[in-house]
Amino acid sequence: MWLHLAVLVGLFYLLRWYRERQVVSHLRDKFVFITGCDSGFGNLLARQLDLRGLRVLAGCLTEQGAEQLRSQTSDRLQTVILDVTKPESVAAAAEWVKERVGDRGLWGLVNNAGICTPMAPNQWLTKQDFVKILEVNLLGVIDVTLNVLPLVRKARGRVVNVSSVMGRLALFGGGYCMSKYGVEAFSDSLRRELCYFGVKVAMIEPGYFLTNMTQDEVFNGNVQASWDHASPEIQELYGDNFLADFMKATDFLKAPWAGNLSLVTDCMEHALTACHPRSRYSAGWDAKLLYLPMSYLPSFLVDLMMYWCSPLPAKAL
Ligand SMILES: *[C@@H]1O[C@H](CO)[C@@H](O)[C@H](O)[C@H]1NC(C)=O
Ligand SMILES: *[C@@H]1O[C@H](CO)[C@@H](O)[C@H](O)[C@H]1NC(C)=O
Ligand SMILES: *[C@@H]1O[C@H](CO)[C@@H](O)[C@H](O)[C@H]1NC(C)=O
Repeated sequence: MWLHLAVLVGLFYLLRWYRERQVVSHLRDKFVFITGCDSGFGNLLARQLDLRGLRVLAGCLTEQGAEQLRSQTSDRLQTVILDVTKPESVAAAAEWVKERVGDRGLWGLVNNAGICTPMAPNQWLTKQDFVKILEVNLLGVIDVTLNVLPLVRKARGRVVNVSSVMGRLALFGGGYCMSKYGVEAFSDSLRRELCYFGVKVAMIEPGYFLTNMTQDEVFNGNVQASWDHASPEIQELYGDNFLADFMKATDFLKAPWAGNLSLVTDCMEHALTACHPRSRYSAGWDAKLLYLPMSYLPSFLVDLMMYWCSPLPAKAL
């Protein structure tokens, strides 16, 4: 019985491995548009796909980021300034992409641009703090997708969204997890909607990775800033030690592979170049072995785990 099961599981993985290593042809003629290429996953992916020979169209927030990227890549890579929160910027970038790809259409759209802060207990935050994240991570993604989708349909291409395991399991407050839950919902509906038109959609769900942005924003004072803005009443509820304990808890999440962004960009590359991309990719062992299984557990168990692992507010009952 167990032997049969093992053989079946082995066969499944063998077949999957074989199916997933087939690569689409004519990669050198294919255009891929990536948002958020100034740093982090987007930056690495742009360089990686450029090396692989694809024609990369990179959206950067700043001219400085764009220049830096161009200096590190071949002259086949082109950049455009893109702020996903500004409709006119998105429309202009979409038009720019359209001119570049012409009749071939756009093979790949990678919705990567994203921010992760302010990240803090909900009670410390204001509505504006939530709006700031949702504008980029959710509404920005929707706007870019709607604007370039006609080009992707033309090429019968791919849409790749960067979500997060936090799109399945909201382990901390602030707009980040909400924005990623939203991306998951749109993804699922769009995947079913676009299959009729030959467009494949994939979602990347990374665990905890340390990009320059996570480093700068979370560890260099962003949580502190939210704390400073919280009302005296809230500060009394949580107490002075809470912040230090909170930072220690996030420190604990830093896995040995958290700095290796290739684990994520390799999933993106597969989603763009394989004949049979997956609908979902989880990147990082923490995502595979901890967060995803956790997301299937009953709420009371997850609540208990979180209760044990989280710092305690000073005035906790
Ligand atoms: C991240 O920061 C390091 C050190 O500050 C820098 O060398 C590296 O180029 C940055 N990476 C990206 C993609 O911005
Ligand atoms: C990507 O996200 C956007 C907006 O959330 C959504 O419209 C689209 O369906 C998603 N696509 C994929 C492939 O996940
Ligand atoms: C990062 O991950 C890739 C796999 O995607 C692996 O080939 C590489 O060796 C890793 N790099 C480091 C420094 O661990």
